[in-house]
Amino acid sequence: MSLERSIAIDGPAGSGKSTVARMLARALGYRYVSTGDLYRALALEILRQGADPYDEGSVVEVAKSVSVSVEPAPDGAQRTMVEGEDVTALIRSAQVDSIVSPVSVYPAVRAHMVKLQRAIAEDADVVMDGRDIGTVVLAESRCKFYLTASPGERAARRQRDYAAQGRQVGLNEVREEIAQRDMIDSTRRVSPLTVAPDAIVIDCTAMSPTEVVAAMMQVVGGADACSTQL
Ligand code: DC
Repeated sequence: MSLERSIAIDGPAGSGKSTVARMLARALGYRYVSTGDLYRALALEILRQGADPYDEGSVVEVAKSVSVSVEPAPDGAQRTMVEGEDVTALIRSAQVDSIVSPVSVYPAVRAHMVKLQRAIAEDADVVMDGRDIGTVVLAESRCKFYLTASPGERAARRQRDYAAQGRQVGLNEVREEIAQRDMIDSTRRVSPLTVAPDAIVIDCTAMSPTEVVAAMMQVVGGADACSTQL
């Protein structure tokens, strides 16, 4: 267990990070951690408390006073908890989607979340996905990936995710939502979504998750940078 051994996967919304991170974690016997779920749990709590997601002070106060956590689920997935309540399904709502990027921009929120995430990686070998994993959270990781796909493909994937949750959303609406989230996530002042200089970029527009994981496994098993202790 060490931060160097952990694997970082970053990328924009709908790039398929969580799917491949879960599969890669299973293949390696590592713990899968999706950090977006922690930000989503905070967004849910903001909604529940009726706090203003655009007021930094209110958001920071909620972030510091409420316990959010993630834990491994038996099927290799992840459960998200707020004050001991399982909110895994609730954090996928349209309301949470609409405010999760804005509440994630505040420096004090990010500092708090980075601490939580590093503590998880200090405790277990992880495949961790998010926006700032290779650049900030696990900057010392020797194995970093940046997963991306065309905007149209990402929107189509996200639309299918929504449909699986029983949410029928038009493709144009999904495209706009993703563009808006990309814009906020990649232009925020603190730890914006960006490619770490030592990350391997995978454009998976025309790749299946299995193909992506196979490509990642080759890097993990073969590349000098990552192979030493894996
Ligand atoms: O991975 P996701 O789409 O569920 O993430 C939801 C939001 O959480 C994302 O739009 C921005 C924020 N996030 C972040 O700021 N940093 C991370 N490491 C992960 C997610």
